[in-house]
Amino acid sequence: MNFTLTEEHQAVQQAARDFAQTELLPGVIERDEQQQFPAEQIKKMGELGFMGMMVDPKYNGGGMDTKSYVLAMEEISKIDASASVCMSVNNSLVCWGIEQYGTEEQKEKYLARLASGEIIGAFCLSEPEAGSDATSQKTTAIDQGDYYLLNGTKNWITNGNSASVYIVIAQTEPEKGYKGINAIIVERDSDGFVVGKKENKMGIRASDTHSLMFTDVKVPKANRIGENGFGFKFAMSVLNGGRIGIAAQALGIASGAHEFALKYAQERKSFGKELVQHQGIQFKLADMATQVEAARLLCLQAADLKDQGLPYAKQSAMAKLYASQVAMDVSTEAVQIHGGYGYVKEYHVERLMRDAKITQIYEGTSEIQKIVISRELLR
Ligand code: CAA
Repeated sequence: MNFTLTEEHQAVQQAARDFAQTELLPGVIERDEQQQFPAEQIKKMGELGFMGMMVDPKYNGGGMDTKSYVLAMEEISKIDASASVCMSVNNSLVCWGIEQYGTEEQKEKYLARLASGEIIGAFCLSEPEAGSDATSQKTTAIDQGDYYLLNGTKNWITNGNSASVYIVIAQTEPEKGYKGINAIIVERDSDGFVVGKKENKMGIRASDTHSLMFTDVKVPKANRIGENGFGFKFAMSVLNGGRIGIAAQALGIASGAHEFALKYAQERKSFGKELVQHQGIQFKLADMATQVEAARLLCLQAADLKDQGLPYAKQSAMAKLYASQVAMDVSTEAVQIHGGYGYVKEYHVERLMRDAKITQIYEGTSEIQKIVISRELLR
């Protein structure tokens, strides 16, 4: 792997950094407090090409590689992990899934609008009784000839109320187990579709997390992604890529927390000198920087494998497992360095520490990442 960023990579990184500073930083504390979805900011992210970064330009995408996506995700997540989870789901789970496995008709109808950020997508796998145990889908999509009849409830859906297009994973032939599951594209204005309760979360509070209810929703057969029964494999495949996005989000939370702590330690004085002059603080900052760098290398390695068309399920799970632990460790240390100021909402590290926790839970808990890694080791 080449460790030097190309000029294009540096330009993407700089553009994301500038956007985060000028458009996301103002108001991020208030949006978190009020659980206010950053709709305006996401629209601008679409205009700048951040919502469909890896999509072919013929479908309005940026035609960029996964490394560019990791770099942009890190910069956006340093400031606003609520905006970056919306970006990650749209890029990795929705756009990439449709581009990779969808029909030409689905790409023209949905992908082009999703990649430009004109509309937002959601990925609906989790259910009240099927989180980690994703094969236990209770939502059904019963074959009715030229359409599926969709019934069930989905939980904890990112972009739940702001999406226009939902990829729903549902069981068509329960007797076939995971081989009876399908992935179907559902439009928001479908009869029988209702957006349910908004979750009042610990972190990423400005992101839009809802339950969704489907009652006798008719979904055209043409909206199925892939062959009949491909839905579970589809979900696993997009999650392998999605985990690179969430790993990069965790990386951004960690590197953001480290940057805030470093700055604070250079400004704040105690015992007659700046905090950074105390060796105990230097040791903390050095450990944090080392963890961040190691997480970054794992993220870029997973992205590099994906870009080369090589297997990356193990490395994406490793990147997510490690980067999410680093996000927790580094953000907690950043709060510690800030002392009492770190515990109040005026300082960004308080939010980053709360945001960090979700990276160990969604797109597979840390324990699920260990299952994925060990499956690959034992293969
Ligand atoms: N990549 C490719 N294929 C995979 C795979 C992976 N990571 N994991 C499983 N598969 C395949 C298996 O090879 C198997 O296929 P074959 O029979 O052809 O070999 C098939 O899928 C079934 O696999 P298992 O029998 O191993 O299935 P399982 O019931 O034991 O579950 C699991 C495996 C890895 C635990 C899986 O259920 C899983 O990943 N669970 C976590 C789900 C998850 O991440 N949910 C997140 C929700 S989305 C989200 O959070 C988005 C958001 O809002 C931010």
